[in-house]
Amino acid sequence: MSNLNIGPDSKVIDGKAFAESLRERVANKVKMIKADHGLIPGLAVVLVGEDPASQIYVRNKGQAAEKAGIRAKDYRLSKSSSEENLLSLVSELNADPLIHGILVQLPLPRQIDPSTIIGAIDPVKDVDGFHEINTGRLSIGKITGSNHAMIPCTPLGCRMLLESRLGDLAGLEAVVLGRSNIVGKPMAQLLINASCTVTVAHSKTKDLKKICRRADILVAAVGRPKMVQFDWIKPGATVIDVGINRIPASTNENPNKTELVGDVDFESVIDIVGGITPVPGGVGPITIACLLANTVVAACSQNGFEIPNWN
Ligand code: GUN
Repeated sequence: MSNLNIGPDSKVIDGKAFAESLRERVANKVKMIKADHGLIPGLAVVLVGEDPASQIYVRNKGQAAEKAGIRAKDYRLSKSSSEENLLSLVSELNADPLIHGILVQLPLPRQIDPSTIIGAIDPVKDVDGFHEINTGRLSIGKITGSNHAMIPCTPLGCRMLLESRLGDLAGLEAVVLGRSNIVGKPMAQLLINASCTVTVAHSKTKDLKKICRRADILVAAVGRPKMVQFDWIKPGATVIDVGINRIPASTNENPNKTELVGDVDFESVIDIVGGITPVPGGVGPITIACLLANTVVAACSQNGFEIPNWN
């Protein structure tokens, strides 16, 4: 990993290069598993409905899996599918020995309760790490060894990236902006596990700016375009921008033209940060690489193979 341009010399952290390197390691592991055991890790990606953004995410996940040598299978259910329908698909996939990872793309249509679906996925196939068994294991720090947690992909990628850039994170002040189940909460757990001093801030936090200014590591995951400004940043801090916000393009006269921005005002903070992930090209590609890594981990766990270490 050390030959990548993501070291302390470059302020802009190259998420694409990091993701590519992780995808390569995953692909190599997939080859080894096939050669040694004749097993191909299998990932089921389930999409209910036709949400355009979800369709793109799901397609990208499937393509990335195939590229890494993972057998990806797509399952499409109509927007009006019932919860029972989806539960019966999940139960089929739980029982399928060729499927090691199950991902049900969120959000789901209104008639389906996401927690019921997530709770029905076999925890060892839960490559999203959203099942209560996995969130519970993560919260007690059971992230390696037998019966370890499957860890949600975005925070897992953020921790890998931070460790590759900063080394040991112990003792660092980390502020996580956002408390979602998908990013904020698991991110905080992972940083606690890495012996950081962790503060979780959110929309009701008093004086967000002051709290963020003490962060050596700031992870922004609130879904508010360009919310974090230069005066929220401790000089030299490492900033991980998880936000993906679509806003009207600033440099175009066409009112229909949009652009993607993060939760951090990149231009405003670039001079003061030690490092920052851009949007796009930062955390996004790493999340998909971590999904592939989790699928391989799941396949190894289910077959009693040694769990890979991606460092
Ligand atoms: N929708 C947005 N992010 C995610 C994710 O990480 N996993 C799933 N399953 N759905 C999502």
